[in-house]
Amino acid sequence: MTDAVGTHTGTETALRQAEAGPAAGPPREVAFTPAFSCRGVGVGFGAKTVLEGVDLDIAPGTVTALVGPTGCGKTTFLRTLNRLNDRVPGFRRSGTISLVGEDLYDRHMDPLVVRRRVGMLFQRPNPFPLSIHENVIAGVKAHRLAPRSELRSITERSLREVGLWEAVADRLGSSPFRLSGGQQQLLCLARALAVRPDVLLLDEPTSSLDPVSTEAVEDLLRSLVPGLTIVIVTHNLAQARRLADRTVFFHGGRMVETGETAELFENPQQEETRNYVSGRFG
Ligand SMILES: Nc1ncnc2c1ncn2[C@@H]1O[C@H](COP(=O)(O)OP(=O)(O)OP(=O)(O)O)[C@@H](O)[C@H]1O
Ligand SMILES: [Mg+2]
Repeated sequence: MTDAVGTHTGTETALRQAEAGPAAGPPREVAFTPAFSCRGVGVGFGAKTVLEGVDLDIAPGTVTALVGPTGCGKTTFLRTLNRLNDRVPGFRRSGTISLVGEDLYDRHMDPLVVRRRVGMLFQRPNPFPLSIHENVIAGVKAHRLAPRSELRSITERSLREVGLWEAVADRLGSSPFRLSGGQQQLLCLARALAVRPDVLLLDEPTSSLDPVSTEAVEDLLRSLVPGLTIVIVTHNLAQARRLADRTVFFHGGRMVETGETAELFENPQQEETRNYVSGRFG
């Protein structure tokens, strides 16, 4: 769980486990409780199956990229990791997903708590129709994570973190809709980070940003690990290579391959992966 002032406790626990190392013998990796552990996961809508049989562990404090051609299920899978599909008509899921060892879909698991621990940034910026300040602290207030007296400083800290403070410091009470698209996306990122999530899910977060803003967001994301676990969907394979420790390739209704990013791009084990990373389709 995350405390009021916001430490990434779930991730920290896992990192401490890793630092301490196993008591004896077994390889280092088994000391981690994965941020996510997926076993036999299938997702679909009504009669349509989107993905089947996904077995995937996501280590805490790492960046994982989800790649694959359009329509292969990246967004559906990502949204399944913080229960955003729960209310989508016809959505169905099979298999199990654990969040730091707990069953994500257990009936005692509160989806609102899940979404605080697992933040999300969408392809298109979605500021709320509130002031810039109220946007940043919307989650902090909703979850009562801090007293009123601290809200201003949380806004400043969060906006500084994403590099937006200088641009908006004199108009915190104004509407966010006059900001540029890139600035709106940074604002949404500040809002997502303000609740100090354990995990951040990002769905093509830089697809509407210029190269300078894209680089700034990538630098920021890299600076957030290992304090945060990041899962990012991207069509930009160069971005996956720059950012991700591991990459997952979805195609044809399944997870074709996963591995360390450099390995997956330079020495793919499956022909479909080889064709995709060499730009032959997608
Ligand atoms: N709400 C929904 N109802 C029915 N089908 C859906 C729904 N959302 C997605 N799908 C279908 O699920 C499949 C996977 O869609 P998804 O958006 O996950 O793909 P994607 O890999 O994110 O694609 P892209 O790269 O274009 O964003 C598609 O065939 C899509 O039409
Ligand atoms: Mg998508």
